[in-house]
Amino acid sequence: MSEIDWDLLHDRAKSIMKKAYAPYSNFPVGVAALVDDGRIVEGCNVENASYGLGLCAECGLISHLTSSGGGRLIAAVCVDAAGNFLSPCGRCRQLLFEHGGNNLLFMTPDGPTPMSTLLPWAFGPEDLGVHPHG
Ligand code: THU
Repeated sequence: MSEIDWDLLHDRAKSIMKKAYAPYSNFPVGVAALVDDGRIVEGCNVENASYGLGLCAECGLISHLTSSGGGRLIAAVCVDAAGNFLSPCGRCRQLLFEHGGNNLLFMTPDGPTPMSTLLPWAFGPEDLGVHPHG
């Protein structure tokens, strides 16, 4: 795996953010991530009139990851409407952990930060005796 192109991930996150469907919160979110085979996957939030059913941008990203061939997430950038780095919500940290593990780097205002810092002592597939990623 070559160098992580953080600027490209940032651009892709800002671009997909513009596709968000967020008429209730007016808080569009975009996220883009590098996969271990070099692909870039992305997602935006999709809200619903039944507010609690809204999907975070990271949900779309994980769906894109799986439907485009799976693999492991290496690095991710999430942004708000202004393009500022956005903190993934707690539920989405869990979603990201499943597909990137402790070493997935997530961009923060302090720089790339591993999931082991964002979600310490995470519960994951291994706790269930499952090893989906080998
Ligand atoms: N949101 C995301 O898409 N990802 C996050 O990690 C944080 C929050 C969305 C959910 C909702 O549509 C909007 O931001 C406001 O909470």
